[in-house]
Amino acid sequence: MIKDAVKIAHISDLHISGVQDRRQIDSLDRLFDHFNTTGYAHLVISGDLSNSANPGDWKIIRQKLESHGLYHWDKTTVIPGNHDLIHLEEEMRFYNALNPLPRVRKKAFDRRVLEFCIFFQELITGEEGGDKGVPFIKIINYSSVRIALAVLNSVYPWYPRDNPLGARGYISPGQLRALGSESVLKSLKDCVVIGICHHAYKVYGTDSPIDQAFDWTMELKNRDEFLESMKIIHAKLVLHGHFHRFQNYEVNGITFINGGSFRYHPLCFSELVIDGNENFTQQFITLNQKNK
Ligand SMILES: [Fe+2]
Ligand SMILES: [Fe+2]
Repeated sequence: MIKDAVKIAHISDLHISGVQDRRQIDSLDRLFDHFNTTGYAHLVISGDLSNSANPGDWKIIRQKLESHGLYHWDKTTVIPGNHDLIHLEEEMRFYNALNPLPRVRKKAFDRRVLEFCIFFQELITGEEGGDKGVPFIKIINYSSVRIALAVLNSVYPWYPRDNPLGARGYISPGQLRALGSESVLKSLKDCVVIGICHHAYKVYGTDSPIDQAFDWTMELKNRDEFLESMKIIHAKLVLHGHFHRFQNYEVNGITFINGGSFRYHPLCFSELVIDGNENFTQQFITLNQKNK
């Protein structure tokens, strides 16, 4: 049992590309070893596990978590990113070949989200079988603090005009409504609440036309509704990824932490420490090559 402060590790955007991706896979071993030997209570992986929506990459990560004893409901939380659910070339080919209705594509996309959740079901419900999906709430009782993770899917299906790169985000009204229900609010009482989604609240946000065009392709379309939901559930923090940058920023009293990109900096991660008075500190840590 963890007595004092609770340490949470957060990584994002692994973009694993098959078993030949040795550098990335070896780095996972390094990081997971470190999390175990230095007493991290929980690990959050905020999406883009795979580079090309390949369940084989999810499997690589699941196996690594298993081999380090981290593949347990109270040890690890994962969510999908756009690269887990959308294969851009296939979407375009499919669209051009059959021109299917958006509703049909949305259905296929929802199936894909569920496929991801079923694959990692143990980390959602604590049971191997089952078909529970997002959103979900995970409440973990530590001896000094109760932590609630409010987990949402922010990946928005590919649409030729509205989401041409598949990288724009949207959190469905159904998910936001579910979070605000009376029973959920009751269960979150006395918890330090942490929201988790893949997309960033804030991307560049400059006036430069190039940045603005880039922002549009990456943005969380309904970020203000999301922020409102986070306020309703009294979230102190939101963990996300997607925009490959290690950063933290505050919006309306909520601290957002971008877990950056494991792909480009595989030995860097975010460390969040929450004490018994519900205060937290956060820093980005880079493992030294010699720490092996
Ligand atoms: Fe990414
Ligand atoms: Fe992403």
